[in-house]
Amino acid sequence: MDQSHRKKSHALVITYPLQGHIIPSVHLATKLASNGFTVTFVNTESIHHQTSKAQNNNNNNNIFAGVRNSGLDINYEIISDGLPISFDRSLNHDQFMASLLHVFSAHVEELVKKLMSSDDPVTCIIADTFFVWPSTISKKFGIPYISFWTEPALVYSLYYHMHLLRLHGHLSNAWIADNREDTITYIPGVPEIEPSDLMSYLQETDTSSVVHQIIFKAFEQAKAADYVICNTVQELEPETILALNANQPFYAIGPIFAPSFRNTSPSTAIATSLWTEFNCKQWLDSKPKGSILYISFGSYAHLSKKDLEEIACGVFKSEVGFIWVLRHDIVSSDEVEPLPKGFMEESKERGIVVPWCCQTEVLAHDSVGGFLTHCGWNSVLESIWSGVPMLCFPLLTDQFTNRKLVVSDWKVGVDLGGKGRADRREVSKKIKCLMGREEFKKEIKVVRRALENATSVNPKGSSVKNF
Ligand code: UDX
Repeated sequence: MDQSHRKKSHALVITYPLQGHIIPSVHLATKLASNGFTVTFVNTESIHHQTSKAQNNNNNNNIFAGVRNSGLDINYEIISDGLPISFDRSLNHDQFMASLLHVFSAHVEELVKKLMSSDDPVTCIIADTFFVWPSTISKKFGIPYISFWTEPALVYSLYYHMHLLRLHGHLSNAWIADNREDTITYIPGVPEIEPSDLMSYLQETDTSSVVHQIIFKAFEQAKAADYVICNTVQELEPETILALNANQPFYAIGPIFAPSFRNTSPSTAIATSLWTEFNCKQWLDSKPKGSILYISFGSYAHLSKKDLEEIACGVFKSEVGFIWVLRHDIVSSDEVEPLPKGFMEESKERGIVVPWCCQTEVLAHDSVGGFLTHCGWNSVLESIWSGVPMLCFPLLTDQFTNRKLVVSDWKVGVDLGGKGRADRREVSKKIKCLMGREEFKKEIKVVRRALENATSVNPKGSSVKNF
């Protein structure tokens, strides 16, 4: 065949409609397009509405202009998830999940059908692993399915081997109601792990919820994927990745936000932020190097009023300067002012509380010396990339398992207990310990180098080769 007439590869990239999934998917789409792919990027109508609103408030280009101006071959498709834009998806989570399963999947299938009969048919489907239908759709149209896993390989492996956890009684099954509490030693590629380091969903004894059913179905689909690509680094999880590769082709391609092998900034391609970003630069510029603690619990998880109060009192007692991202819904109850009375007034000389910011810019600022984080996987990778050690307070899902990697395996952070276990004295003591200690800085340099080496273009790092 005459190579000059060969069509470009055309990837259909379908992101999961949550902040922590949209950001890495946009980076992935941008990287694919920078490497010669035609990309059709699918967002839900409701996410499109929210990112456009945030963009306008940030006084940026609108989302379509962004795609056109990036010079990349990215087409942007908006599909309804079956619910009105005004529907509160976080409050009615089960209905949202059901709609993604039945309505959104049907719309995706219609889109694939349309694209397959166009002049530029899709050559692969790349969808977030948490969807429960991509393998079925890709088989129907005879297209390869690449599952995109936005969390560490360790988490993938634990979900992949849920049947073993059930068999050994660490996950409740038909004949054992309580989960075993001793060390887990039989997961291939995971020498040992404590039950308290499992993802929150696998620590529960009742696994009949909608979320559990979605996860179980999603992993049936993931096992049928032609390839899995994961936002991690081979050198950081070598044994787990090696063992996973015995089951299916599993490639570490992270950190996906690394600027190498990309010819444009992702922010110029597709908007990612769901909320308006407060500009913290001027405030940070006025602070001494390494003096500020950045605090954020991500985009999704909630804190109890009690934990929030303990953390706030600990931060106050520690006397460090801080930037605290406090989402309006951080406490699930209808609290208008979730922080303890007087906290803002008494710490106004030392810190600021903002509703949302550009986290990567804050972490990259010289004044930031620590990150009190819920251990969302994107936050972990971004913190390491910026050389900022972490205080870990996991709340939900993979965050407990990510904490194990940060604290026990890589030693670039300190454990603060996590959901339901905040204690003001511990918080204050550990903030002081983290912000002042050289050993964390040394360790984080080592892990950061692994990220940099993996994404180096010359010589080619592991993530570049895998990509
Ligand atoms: C959740 C999971 O915990 C995470 O592990 C999974 O991969 C995705 O879903 P989330 O709570 O959103 O994620 O946390 P995280 O993974 O850290 O992602 C949050 C993203 O939002 C990060 O990329 C961060 O840079 C960004 N962010 C956060 C901002 O841009 N501004 C903020 O103020 C806070």
